[in-house]
Amino acid sequence: MYQYDQYDHLIVRERIAQYRDQVQRRLSGELTEEEFLPLRLQNGLYMQRHAYMLRIAVPYGLLSSAQMRMFAHIARKYDRGYGHFTTRQNIQFNWIELEQTPDILADLASVEMHAIQTSGNCIRNVTSDEFAGVAADEIIDPRPYAEVLRQWSTFHPEFIALPRKFKVAINGALEDRAAIAIHDIGLTVVKNDAGEIGFKVMVGGGMGRTPIIGTTIREFLPREHLLTYTEAIMRVYNQYGRRDNKYKARIKILLKAIGAEEFARQVEEEWADLKGTEETLTLEEMERVIAYFQPHPYEQLEAIDPRAGHEDNKAFANWLSRNVKPHKQAGYAAVILSLKKTGVPPGDATAEQMDFMAELADRYSFGELRVTHEQNIVLADVKQSQLFDLWKEIKAHGLATPNIGLLTDIICCPGGDFCSLANAKSIPISAAIAERFDHLDFLHDIGDIELNISGCINACGHHHVGNIGVLGVDKDGSEWYQVSIGGAQGNATAIGKIIGPSFSAHQMPEVIDRLLQVYLRERTPDEKFVDTVQRLGIAPFKEHVYATPINEPGRLVGEDEYA
Ligand code: HEM
Ligand code: SF4
Repeated sequence: MYQYDQYDHLIVRERIAQYRDQVQRRLSGELTEEEFLPLRLQNGLYMQRHAYMLRIAVPYGLLSSAQMRMFAHIARKYDRGYGHFTTRQNIQFNWIELEQTPDILADLASVEMHAIQTSGNCIRNVTSDEFAGVAADEIIDPRPYAEVLRQWSTFHPEFIALPRKFKVAINGALEDRAAIAIHDIGLTVVKNDAGEIGFKVMVGGGMGRTPIIGTTIREFLPREHLLTYTEAIMRVYNQYGRRDNKYKARIKILLKAIGAEEFARQVEEEWADLKGTEETLTLEEMERVIAYFQPHPYEQLEAIDPRAGHEDNKAFANWLSRNVKPHKQAGYAAVILSLKKTGVPPGDATAEQMDFMAELADRYSFGELRVTHEQNIVLADVKQSQLFDLWKEIKAHGLATPNIGLLTDIICCPGGDFCSLANAKSIPISAAIAERFDHLDFLHDIGDIELNISGCINACGHHHVGNIGVLGVDKDGSEWYQVSIGGAQGNATAIGKIIGPSFSAHQMPEVIDRLLQVYLRERTPDEKFVDTVQRLGIAPFKEHVYATPINEPGRLVGEDEYA
């Protein structure tokens, strides 16, 4: 993985010293909260409902065991013993004291981490496939390119005051696991017929209040032009993106306003001046960065069937089928540690679990871990022969729930329990649903399904692209939930359709149940929930969900009450 050089160390150290002084001045009253606000946000420190929240960047989701241990230390020493992994492969700590933030940043710097550009109208953490470098369906490892983008965008003087925040995702495999279509720029690594490496460039995807799927503006960009072409895109956006209206400021709105073709034309025009300038990536520079992402020293192993010898162990078989993924290298597998145990907020890990995951990484996976955008953790390089031992260990720590890709592998933002922008709570909704369907055989029968929950239209919980999406809405000061179905992420990204009037928190598990009933009734063999929705449309689902009121004992709730 990438390691800091002298420049990285220097800029991070200097930033901490500067910030330490700013915090001192805030604490002494020399700076007002208003003056301090932009300074703290530049360092990833938000004010949430109850306390400060610190967001730390995990570049393309890749972590060393030392970095994971540092998260455990921060959770234990400065927070309430846990942290929250997010859909942007970052981590957030929810209970932070202002006085301690410079020390936290210094602790982070000691393991080559920081919180710079995790907030504000700049290029945010570049995200990628959690199986980058090991995926069986990979064309080229995208991480060196993500790293080049990260270095280029950090403190880029021209792009620290964009019209709005900017998110770049990069994917190097046939299957899109980086949700590229819902990013401001989504890059796919491709090889052309001549075997040259380049990128398919998508622009203008995003969620929030106007969900839009990105448009491809270039089928093949030779890799040496990655930075100059990205810069051309950024320049067009920086110049023409709307600064007068926060809600219309994202690049997707610009693309919609002028049309993708015109946008692409302007980018090409801008690029004409940039192409071939010193930001063009030389082979030497690329090789320098690629050297950080060399494959681990794998043993030459034969592929084995990890079930052999454990044929009667159904729990292990379930875990293998859901939480273990294929690996490029024979004899190895990638393992997903589920952070979705029923009763635990999705994406949360305790300090004890973080320390334990770091230890597992050291013992089983070359000391590395990855954060997934579904809010789980990956050990990417486990020997197949060690899967059974690993499984036994992680079970004891609540990390072996065999639910990856199933109904209870819920993506969920912090919602009203923490977030000051929330319209409604989201964690209790995910908890109630997980509890109602806490039945493994049923979950496995339902099969692949994505349930995503956001506490407001900002869509931090990716509700638009959930096969079932739940969105918290405010009506006359009370909390309601709007449901959409048919959304999807990945190669067939789609925005879900709203099925009708919203529901109360109490009704939500029953709503999910009714949606599943229609699926179970209508599905053809091997058909996934989302495919049934796409085949039939939302009508039969809608009809069944609203056919009879969903009662709360003693009172009719939901929209029905007002009918
Ligand atoms: C203090 C907590 C948070 C605040 C104030 C916050 C704020 C926002 C806002 C204002 C947007 C809308 C941006 C726009 O449409 O221009 C947004 C979008 C988003 N946030 Fe958050 N968020 C928070 C926590 C989180 C968490 C915990 C996650 C992951 C679980 C997350 C992931 C995202 C994602 C994926 C989007 C959608 C990006 C898009 O529109 O393309 N955020 N957030
Ligand atoms: S979706 Fe809304 S409620 Fe949830 S974290 Fe984002 S801003 Fe907060």
